[in-house]
Parts: sequence; C-alpha cells; structure tokens
Amino acid sequence: MNPGEVVEVLAALARLDMDAVVAYEQAIAAVDVVAIRDRFAQFRYDHERHVDELTTTIRNLGFEPPSPKSGNEMEPGLLPVTPSAGAEAALDVMHTNERLISRRYTEASRMKLPLPILTLVAKNCRDEQRHFQYVEQTLAIRTWGR
Ligand SMILES: [Fe+2]
Repeated sequence: MNPGEVVEVLAALARLDMDAVVAYEQAIAAVDVVAIRDRFAQFRYDHERHVDELTTTIRNLGFEPPSPKSGNEMEPGLLPVTPSAGAEAALDVMHTNERLISRRYTEASRMKLPLPILTLVAKNCRDEQRHFQYVEQTLAIRTWGR
C-alpha cells in the first residue's frame, strides 16, 4: 500500500468518526436518561480522539486531512438523531451507526497497513466494538425503562 492509499483509508475512517461525534451530540441532546447520556459522552470523546489521532497521522504522512463538513450531510449509511428521539430511538440510530463504523474499522484492521498505523486502527476498532456492544446490550435489556 502506498502512502496515498494509506491516507485514503485513514481519511475515510476520520470522516466516519467526525460524523459519529455529531450523531453523539444529537443523541446526548435527545436522551434524558443520565446513565445513557454519560456513556454517549464517553463515546463521543473516543470519536474525537480518533479524529485527532487520524488527522495527526495523515499530516505526518505529508497529506492534508479531511476538513469537518459544514451542514448536516453524513457519510452514506450513517444516520442523524432527531432532537425528539428519546432513549430507544436514539439507541436504535446509534446501533446502526456503530455497526457501520465497527465494520469499517474491522475491514481497515485487516488491511496491509504499516505497523504503527495498524496498531492505531486496531485500538480504535476495539473502541468501536465496545461502543457497539454497549448500544446492543442496552437495547436488549432496556435499562432505561426500569
Ligand atoms: Fe463508536
């Protein structure tokens, strides 16, 4: 993989992470269950950190990282959270989003990336699997209704 191809992979992940930050901001505003909001805030922070790390890595390779999008357009397959969603609808949307992001990170972690970059991608991939599992389990056991 040449540096340009590596950067394409990283930029695609960074764009997903940027949209995840936006989606989590929307989800935090839409949910009134403190325990879920706190988790969402942690996950938003993870995604912000991913953006920072990916952006730095892209710059270190001599390329310009993707800039944050203006407007509400999201990457294909990612969904926004509507302000009036409530816990279940917000979790449903984040379930879809985290499944996609988790898949993309898993695909990237199987690519022939340079080792330090692969290490970063694998670390982020574990974060995404953790996010997805939390959303899936919370939806399954419906903790907010008790
Ligand atoms: Fe995530």
